[in-house]
Formats: sequence, C-alpha cells, structure tokens
Amino acid sequence: MNQRTFIMIKPDAVVRGLIAPIVARFEACSLKIERMELGNVTREQAEASYAEHEGKPFYTGLVAYITSGPVVKMVLSGPEAVTVCRKLMGATNPRDAAPGTIRGDFGLTLDANIIHGSDSPESATREIAIFFGE
Ligand SMILES: Nc1ncnc2c1ncn2[C@@H]1O[C@H](COP(=O)(O)OP(=O)(O)O)[C@@H](O)[C@H]1O
Ligand SMILES: [Mg+2]
Repeated sequence: MNQRTFIMIKPDAVVRGLIAPIVARFEACSLKIERMELGNVTREQAEASYAEHEGKPFYTGLVAYITSGPVVKMVLSGPEAVTVCRKLMGATNPRDAAPGTIRGDFGLTLDANIIHGSDSPESATREIAIFFGE
C-alpha cells in the first residue's frame, strides 16, 4: 500500500555534514521525496511531536536537542514507506542498530541518534500536519 511518512534529519547529522549520504539511502530505495525543507523546529512543534514522551526523564533534553539547530524535514512516499523507512533507520539506540542502517552506520549516541521517522501511518499524518501544516 502506498504510504507517506515524515522523516527528520536531526541537528547532529546536519552539523556533521551527513544530509547528502542520508538522503541517498532513501533515494536508493526508490522512496519519492514529496517535501524537503531545511529549518529549525519550534518549541511548540517539538512538544507536539514528542507528546508521547512527556514526563520521561529524557523528555526535557530531547526537546532542547531537537530545537538546538537546523534539521531537514521530509515527506517521503512509496509502498509501505513507514516500515521501509524504519528499517532503513535501524534501532533507536545506535549501539543496537545493525550495520548498513542509517543509525548503525552514522549514529553515536541514543540522545543524538541522527534521524527521526514516523512509527505508524497515523503518526505520519499527525507529524506531517505539525511540521508542514498539511
Ligand atoms: N532513554 C533515552 N535516553 C535519551 N534519549 C532517548 C531515550 N529514549 C529515546 N530517546 C530519544 O527520543 C527519541 C524518541 O524515542 P522513541 O520514539 O522511543 O524512538 P524512535 O525515534 O526510534 O521512534 C529517540 O529517537 C531518541 O533520540
Ligand atoms: Mg518514536
């Protein structure tokens, strides 16, 4: 089934000059780039998108980190795009992420783990609304 998903290249990856190699991973899998924008995440957007983590010990740091510098926001589409992108990204903790995945190859730490991707079609719809106003 054709799906849309929301992907964000996080501040640590932008600072390290990893935009192009990360985008290349998605293009290599024939995912279509529908939207792509470099910019900053507002505090409101960060809190809305990470609402499920509110109250957890890492929540404050997570919001501070994601608003700390430019990110690349994307809408990608393709067959099973949500699952395909999560597989390409790898496990949340780069230490557990398999070699060949984006987090496995580029990630260093759990808090700065390179990339965000929607975890379900419903999350994708919600996140695309938050970040692109669609
Ligand atoms: N225990 C933790 N300590 C610090 N940061 C965390 C921790 N768990 C998750 N995070 C951060 O919060 C983000 C959102 O967490 P989660 O939704 O569980 O993972 P994912 O990004 O794989 O969907 C993670 O990508 C990571 O940057
Ligand atoms: Mg998540």
